[in-house]
Parts: sequence; structure tokens; C-alpha cells
Amino acid sequence: MLYTKEIEVLSLIADRIEGRSSREIALTIGAMISCGDLQPGDRLPTVRAVADRIGVSSSTVADSWRILTAHGAIDTARRNGTTVRSARAEMTGRFWQVPSTLGASIVDLSTGTPDTDLLPPLGPVLHRLHADVSITSYIDRPVLLELEHELNRRWPFVPQSLTVVNGALDALDHMVAALVRLGDTVVVEDPTFPPILDMLERAGARIVGVQVDRHGPVVESWAEAMAKRPTAAFIQPTAHNPTGASLTPRRCAQLAEAVADLAPNCWVVEDNHSGAIAQTQLVSLGEHMADRVVHIHSFSKSHGPDLRIAAVGGAEEPISTVIDRRRLGPSWTSRLIQNILLTMLTDAEVETQVALAVQVYSERRRFLRDALAAEGITTEPGEGLNMWIPVADEQRAVVALALDNVGVAIGHPFRLHGNTDPDHIRVSIGSARGDLGELAMAIASAARA
Ligand SMILES: Cc1ncc(COP(=O)(O)O)c(C=O)c1O
Repeated sequence: MLYTKEIEVLSLIADRIEGRSSREIALTIGAMISCGDLQPGDRLPTVRAVADRIGVSSSTVADSWRILTAHGAIDTARRNGTTVRSARAEMTGRFWQVPSTLGASIVDLSTGTPDTDLLPPLGPVLHRLHADVSITSYIDRPVLLELEHELNRRWPFVPQSLTVVNGALDALDHMVAALVRLGDTVVVEDPTFPPILDMLERAGARIVGVQVDRHGPVVESWAEAMAKRPTAAFIQPTAHNPTGASLTPRRCAQLAEAVADLAPNCWVVEDNHSGAIAQTQLVSLGEHMADRVVHIHSFSKSHGPDLRIAAVGGAEEPISTVIDRRRLGPSWTSRLIQNILLTMLTDAEVETQVALAVQVYSERRRFLRDALAAEGITTEPGEGLNMWIPVADEQRAVVALALDNVGVAIGHPFRLHGNTDPDHIRVSIGSARGDLGELAMAIASAARA
């Protein structure tokens, strides 16, 4: 039975419709949403009802529903039918649930950011820049040649193509847009970085989670996922957020073999968000299958998040798509910033500072891990800026720590729906300074809460 609102919507569609193609129908409904005739949460009539009313086939209307879903205008996955999506959905994904918002924490360990005191100072770098920097050109190559050489030299495999974008998140956003279509199966680690889940959900992907142990995706779980013939897999090769896991050469080879055997058309996108902050030797599936892997290397954690720069290198096809798409947007990443990065990458003092940061983070992690172990709380060794700590009840643990003026991230936005792992919190050691012994006691007590 149709409700009054749906009858009204049917009449409006019939009045406004100009053409009978799926695109025309989608455009008409899109315009009704923009001008407020359809409000967020309003239920659309069924595909069949619309088809009968305007005299087209159900499959034409279903196609227009697909177009609207792909543009984030409607939601077809609701139990109460197809509804108009809120534009605010942009801000209500998992990402926005991560930081603990309980009061103004004095020690905020919820955000995964590096310690500002451990980043290389920018002053001396800027001082050395001024002589040869031009800020005028629209027509130069998008990546500074010298920077490209430097990046190629550091790349874990020989990339078919390489460019720079505005951070790893920007790179992930472009990769999702380039590779993922509505209904595509996409593999991710479970748990993983919440924004990638937000991006994939918005793109209409069917997300398949893979278990993670201390060496990255578990081979059996990965093979099961590959048997589903995914379009793409998004993984973190090193210092996995939130668990700290890093691929070993053996695990890397096993994962590459499973892709080659079970899903040879799958693209693998590696989000190396920690870059030089990781301690173990970086390995990449690109060493085994350079034509299917895109590797992202961020400089945020090692050289500074506000540089907003990451390199993307690997398989030609998706990277060319990104370069072409960016021509309709920022076109290139500021060569001024590229120059700053190049100066930093070729500076011995900066290198020493990054090495020091790696050492300090590793000491903080070891200290906290040992102190938690003494309290009976076992964590994986891991590396990078985040620790994934098992707790009795994550909601209570976050509240208990907030009462101690410590902000941490609650675990559930990192997990896929249906993941039944025990509760966890993510504690970022980047900003963990001061009395770590006291901090460990507070975490241990919250973990038992
Ligand atoms: C897994 C992961 N990917 C990407 C990013 C974002 O990196 P960037 O600052 O380069 O955008 C982060 C930031 O913490 C991250 O943890």
C-alpha cells in the first residue's frame, strides 16, 4: 500500500519528468531533492510503482535508482525501503566517531597524530629554499623531476607511474573513485582505518573484511576473500592502524600468490600512511605484481601532516586516471610544497630527526606494552603511532579514561559490522608524553572497567 507522501511523490515525478531514460528519471529526482520537494528520510515509491506511473520498464527505474545511489542521493539499503539521503551523511560516518569527545582531555591520545616536538623543524628547510623556487607556472610537469627521482629511488618496487597528491587520505579518496563502482566487492583488513570504510560505503561497495594478525592479513582469511573475486583490496602494508601490524616478506609473498591464483584482476592499494616512521623493512605486494598494485607513501607522520603530501606509485592505469581526474580539480600538488619535501628528503639533519622520532615512538610503545603486560593486559608488539588495546568494555574504558583526562579512540568504528572480536580501544602514542607509568596504570584500570 502506498502512503500519502509516496502518492504525492509519484505525482510530482510524473509532472516533472521530461525524458524516459534512466538518466532523465535520476535527474528529475535529484532536482526534487535539491529544491526540497523531497526531504532527507522521505521514502520513495517502489521501483514498480514509478515504472507503472510513468510508463517505463522496472529495470529503467532500477537503473536510475543505481545512478542516484552512486551519487549519494538515496539509500537503498534501508529496511524501510529506499529513502532520500541526508547531505549531512558526509559528516556522520565512522571517522567522526573516532576522537573521544568527552570533555577537554588534557592528554589527547585519540587522534593518531605525530608528536609535534619530534617532527623536523621547518625553519632551516625554508631558509634554504628561497633561491630557486618559482611559483608561477600552470604548465610545468605536475611532479618536480628531482622529487620524482628521489621517490623512485625509495619506492619498494619499480612503479609504472608515479605522482604526488595531497596526503594519503586524498590518495585513498582518488583510488576509491577510480576503482570502485556500485556493488563492487572490495577487501579491507578488519579492523581498519575508519575513513576507508566510510569512502567504500559511500561508493556503494560490498565490503569484505579480512582478519589481521601481527604480520598483517591472515592468509586463509585473505584467500577466502580473494575467492569472492573482489575488484580491489585496500590494505596497510606497515604499522597498520589500529593494530600496528606490518607485513613480513613471507606474508607478503603469500598474499600476492593468493591474488594471482584467485583474483588476478583485483587491484591492490597499499596505504603506507606511516612512511618513514615504521621500523621494519617495508615490503610491498608490488614486488610480486607491479601491474596490479598502487602504493601510497605519506609524509605526514615523518615530516609533518600539514605538508599535505603523499606519493602514489605503481600500476599505470589507476594512476593515470587519478592524474587525469585531478586536471579538473587542483591539477597538481603545489610545487612549493614539493620543493620543501625534496629539501627535507635530501637533508642529513632531517633524516637524523626522523630516525630519532622512530626511536622515541618505539621506546614509548615498548614501555607502555611492558607496563600493561605487568598489569595482565597483553598487546601485540606492532609499530607506528597506534596501540590496539583489549578492554572489557570499550564504552566504559573510554569514559573511565576521560574521567582521568585521557582521550582515546573507541574501537567500534574501526571494525566492520558483524565483527565479533573482543572490545578494544586505540591509544595513539604519538602524543603520549610525560609520566607513561601513570598513563599505563590509568589504561589498565580502564581496561578492566
Ligand atoms: C591508515 C591511515 N591512512 C591514511 C591516513 C592519513 O594520512 P595523510 O595525513 O597522509 O592524509 C592516516 C592518518 O592517520 C592513517 O592512519
